[in-house]
Amino acid sequence: METPAKKVKEVVQAAAEKVADVLTSEVPGKPGSAPAPLAEPTTPVEPLPPKKEQGTPDTVTPTGAETGVPAVAKGQQGAYLTTAQGARLRDTDHSLKAGPRGPILLQDHHFREKITHFDHERIPERVVHARGAGAHGVFTASGTAEAVTRAGFLKKGRETPVFVRFSTVLGSRGSADTVRDTRGFATKFYTDEGTFDLVGNNIPVFFIQDAIKFPDIIHAGKPHPDREIPQAQSAHDTFWDFVSLHTEAQHHTMWNMSDRGIPRSYRTMEGFGVHTFRLVNEAGETALAKFHWKPKLGVHSLDWEEAQLLAGVDPDFHRRDLYDAIEAGAFPEWELGLQVFPDTREETFAGIDLLDPTKIVPEELAPVQTVGRLVLNRTPTNFFAETEQVAFHLGHLPPGIDVTNDPLLQGRLFSYVDTQLTRLGGPNYTQIPVNRPHAPVNDMLRDGFHQHAVHAGVAPYRPNSLDGGNPFTAGDAEHAFADVPVVVAEAPKVRANPASFDDHYSQVRLFWLSMSPVEQEHIIRAYTFELGKCYEQAIKERQLRCLANIDPVLCAQVAAGLGLPAPEPTVPLADVTPSPALSQVGAQWPGDGRIVGIVVDPDSDLDDVGAVRRAVFAAGMVPLLIAPHGGTVGGMPVQRTFATARSVEFDAVLLAGTPAPAPDALPARDAKAGAAGPATVDPRVVLLVEEAWRHAKAIGAWGAGATVLTLTGVAGTPGVVTAGSGDAAFAEVQQLMAAHRVWERFPAAVA
Ligand code: HEM
Repeated sequence: METPAKKVKEVVQAAAEKVADVLTSEVPGKPGSAPAPLAEPTTPVEPLPPKKEQGTPDTVTPTGAETGVPAVAKGQQGAYLTTAQGARLRDTDHSLKAGPRGPILLQDHHFREKITHFDHERIPERVVHARGAGAHGVFTASGTAEAVTRAGFLKKGRETPVFVRFSTVLGSRGSADTVRDTRGFATKFYTDEGTFDLVGNNIPVFFIQDAIKFPDIIHAGKPHPDREIPQAQSAHDTFWDFVSLHTEAQHHTMWNMSDRGIPRSYRTMEGFGVHTFRLVNEAGETALAKFHWKPKLGVHSLDWEEAQLLAGVDPDFHRRDLYDAIEAGAFPEWELGLQVFPDTREETFAGIDLLDPTKIVPEELAPVQTVGRLVLNRTPTNFFAETEQVAFHLGHLPPGIDVTNDPLLQGRLFSYVDTQLTRLGGPNYTQIPVNRPHAPVNDMLRDGFHQHAVHAGVAPYRPNSLDGGNPFTAGDAEHAFADVPVVVAEAPKVRANPASFDDHYSQVRLFWLSMSPVEQEHIIRAYTFELGKCYEQAIKERQLRCLANIDPVLCAQVAAGLGLPAPEPTVPLADVTPSPALSQVGAQWPGDGRIVGIVVDPDSDLDDVGAVRRAVFAAGMVPLLIAPHGGTVGGMPVQRTFATARSVEFDAVLLAGTPAPAPDALPARDAKAGAAGPATVDPRVVLLVEEAWRHAKAIGAWGAGATVLTLTGVAGTPGVVTAGSGDAAFAEVQQLMAAHRVWERFPAAVA
């Protein structure tokens, strides 16, 4: 029988074969799997196949048995419109009325079915992490974890289908992608020993140490309950009120104020399991471990101004980036890594309490060892069915991975199922295609709303003799999950933390001191912005007191921005060793799936533009032509016009010409047309170049394009190149893009 992993592999291969074709001919974003004709089609046809990059959850039954049903047949079948019961319909444009001008008849079952179903299309959004985007993929194990865990999916060469959902925490389902926030990074591994959910974030620490504080931090971060503003952001009084009082939140808050809070893309985020888990190997030996996802493209972030512009220009920026990259064949990739620690009675490593989720273990002390590779290679076919209905839970554990007593983790074990019972309408959501395990299921759970399984037998209880004793319990030989018999010390029943949880500042200082000057500048800017948006002076002053306990320079500079005096620290500044691994600048990374905007004017050397476009495709990036008007230029499709383009969607800009103001560059039609700039260049192009420059992006020009650089005053500055041909200009720009941004354009001076 074909295994799910084999099927995934075939999809990957098929997609890879198409990559060459895609890269030379198309840019991502085509809405349907066939071009739309001008006239409404009238000849009946079967449902069109999904697009080539789309996948669906595997076709398994609620109990994990493979069905082999083609993906497209699962949603709809046949050429004709039917009722939900399969009766073909003659008309769906008019309700059944007592005469053309009469009232609607109650007997109109089609009307009632259609409207009733529509009325119930919405389900509650997630109470947190409501805004998200998912993708299917495959995880391949390198075998390096075999010594520490018996988990089958981590055995050498084992391939496991996965579904990953990325998210923001605070915003509603329709909020913008690029807000300053933590990002969720939740992975469902459909292993053949049962599903494993690694429900992590892009930040390795959490705001709180005990799950009982989760409603508090979330109530503080969500919009104010009276006016329901602001949406999807922490720049408001209730958030800073809470984190400045509940100071264990300061570490996570610093990560949010750093560039980690505004990722360039889901593809350029690290992921962390946050908690320490307990691993068990074949011999029954245990180790403690933290999970890490390392992106192939490096960790890369937006500039704050870019993030704000994108929230308006393209609120779907991150999900579009994810789907476009997969469609373009630039499959997002991460390495899964483990930090492994001895399982000692103290559950500490190098003096760090491994049960405290507000602490990291610096990689310099415990290196991250790679144990496998994740590739996301298929987009969902239906957002609601897959991304919205997916349900993660920390208790979904395969044999070989167990939990620890981290009090945040312990509380999470309760919360996820509890919320999903409401969100997904009952206890049978595990039978929804995206949630179905791929391992055989025989669980004695019965009935309930929306039961899809047709259970046979009469004895869903144990022990029984009527169903032959089935189901039987398993042992080690049958890969049974085993709870590690961790000794729980005799202790009083208390509502209290261990004393080691009391240090709220040393690791925040460690993080601050590990940043490069440019990253420190960004952190100062973020605190100043966020606190500047608070109304209450007391809250600003209280947060400044927290900053004083982290670093005097940081505190003084934020205080200066707020127009307040910098307070003295109330605890001694920690003597810490910085962790260079925490900085995200200074190396070179591949540019797969990056977007290069090419400004053309119809008078440009269009042969050269064609050559550059091919070179960008060949580099695994996506070229978007930006022209004065839509349609084509020199036979090439125009993807953006001066009216629709904005610098923030491009990672680099190339200029093939110096276009004069286009006919629609009229102040009355486009306020940007009034922007100051040389009268000989279209003002939208001037704005594009100025913004790209301000956001430290690489800019290249050749031929007539060089004139724009001179006229905008950026020629000769770092990261702005002119070359004799388009190919040569792109080659230099590509080199610059490997460092993510032209950091030297704005030398940082945090003093
Ligand atoms: C290390 C700390 C935490 C991390 C990394 C984390 C991560 C996540 C992620 C990634 C999601 C989105 C899952 C998805 O895409 O469907 C999520 C959802 C959620 N989290 Fe957490 N979370 C943490 C702490 C907590 C705590 C302490 C609680 C409650 C006690 C909690 C309750 C929830 C709930 C209720 C949801 C919505 C789940 C759903 O509707 O399916 N989380 N969390």
